[in-house]
Amino acid sequence: MLDPHRRRLLKLAGGTLVAGGLVAVGRPIWADQRPGLAEAGQPLPALGQLPLQRFGGVASATLVASTAPARLAGLPVTTMLYHGQLPGPLIRLREGEHVRLTFRNQLEVPSNLHLHGLHTSPAADAPFTHLMPGEAHVYEFTVPNGSAGTYWYHPHLHGQIAPQLFAGLAGPLVIEGGADALPELRAAEEQVLVLKDYSVRHGQVRGHSLLDANGKQGSLLTVNGAWRPLLRAQRRTLRLRLINASTARYFRLSLGGLPLHLIATDGGFIGRPVPLSDLLLAPGERAEVLVQLPKDGTFELSDLGYQSEGGTGPAQLLMRLQVPERGPLLPLPTHLADVEQLDTQASRVQQVTLNQSFPLNFGMNGRAFDMNRVDLQARQGTVELWDLVSRSDAAHPFHLHSYPFQVLSRGGRLEPFRAWRDVVNVPSGQTVRIAVPFRDFAGTTVYHCHIAEHEDHGMMGVVQVLPQKG
Ligand code: C2O
Ligand code: CU
Ligand code: CU
Repeated sequence: MLDPHRRRLLKLAGGTLVAGGLVAVGRPIWADQRPGLAEAGQPLPALGQLPLQRFGGVASATLVASTAPARLAGLPVTTMLYHGQLPGPLIRLREGEHVRLTFRNQLEVPSNLHLHGLHTSPAADAPFTHLMPGEAHVYEFTVPNGSAGTYWYHPHLHGQIAPQLFAGLAGPLVIEGGADALPELRAAEEQVLVLKDYSVRHGQVRGHSLLDANGKQGSLLTVNGAWRPLLRAQRRTLRLRLINASTARYFRLSLGGLPLHLIATDGGFIGRPVPLSDLLLAPGERAEVLVQLPKDGTFELSDLGYQSEGGTGPAQLLMRLQVPERGPLLPLPTHLADVEQLDTQASRVQQVTLNQSFPLNFGMNGRAFDMNRVDLQARQGTVELWDLVSRSDAAHPFHLHSYPFQVLSRGGRLEPFRAWRDVVNVPSGQTVRIAVPFRDFAGTTVYHCHIAEHEDHGMMGVVQVLPQKG
């Protein structure tokens, strides 16, 4: 489905498209490569894990980004990736441990690394780091207690985020702790599912052009780099860690009509499981769900589609799930975590508008990103209320670095439960109110739209958190 902006852009570019009207053996030369039919139904690939060295309370590892050959949905491609893998290797950390992660840029282009969603200091996150080919940077931090959950990592070089992320630079990150120790969760079968769209032509992941500025969506929907794989479940209760690693595609997930019991959002566990019939994941967003498999058979994980104007469709199959023939049905946990009730009595309210106007004007509070300008200030030790206001025909997923927040209301409707998040979707014309505790660190960081193309085009702002007074 083309949204209105994109349709207009295509009209502008009509000349090129007509000139491209050549056809090679029944298939337009600009057509995307499709995986072979036999590809569907291959076993869900296990994610490679990044080897960590644990010594004296410090976990260290090296992550390398390079351009290398790989297989994507069964197709041979050469693309940008981490550790030679698509998606990047799973990084598994524990609450409380000190981490020293060396990132080495072996790409032919500048890049950097962002550990998305972690409550680490702006200095450790270092979102303005610029690493030339061959350069390395050590990301060093302590994993906060209470942050057990599902996160991910990707490049964060302004202007280059979308092409590098779309090409394949994305990987999952899991933090262990807290409710992971509950017997109900330990008995469940855990699967990390990285959801990401691609578009492949002539063995390359198709690059970005100006036409993609509004958000590029590939036609190849993958789960852990596989096309419509089969997950043969070993147990009757699944714990799915879901990550939307797309630059611009939303996923509205459904698993053959089974209830999805939400247990965690971006920033970790919620109070108790919340049953959902489907789950919307905006770009950058994560969720964990428990699924009880009631009977033998096969279920389909599908994307029901998301239209920013409201409504769903078209639906697309992502993965099939085969239920084991026997095995006990496990109970769901009743209590997961105590999610803090933030005291917002004394809070200051600031407004953050998300602006998009035709053709390619993207900004926050009416201005395009400038890394040398401070757009908002906050004070360490306070809880602020931010009203995120969409001034656009489209939906935008708002994201803030370093400081997890809670959604209080959407379009005036109170949020039904407390949850820590770092991404929240702001639909067209809506206002979403969030509460942001600025704790633990002062420093300067960014907030932005997580449609990576919008971010690259300036839909990002700078917040300076001033040190606590006296
Ligand atoms: Cu997922 Cu600014 O990042
Ligand atoms: Cu982030
Ligand atoms: Cu946006």
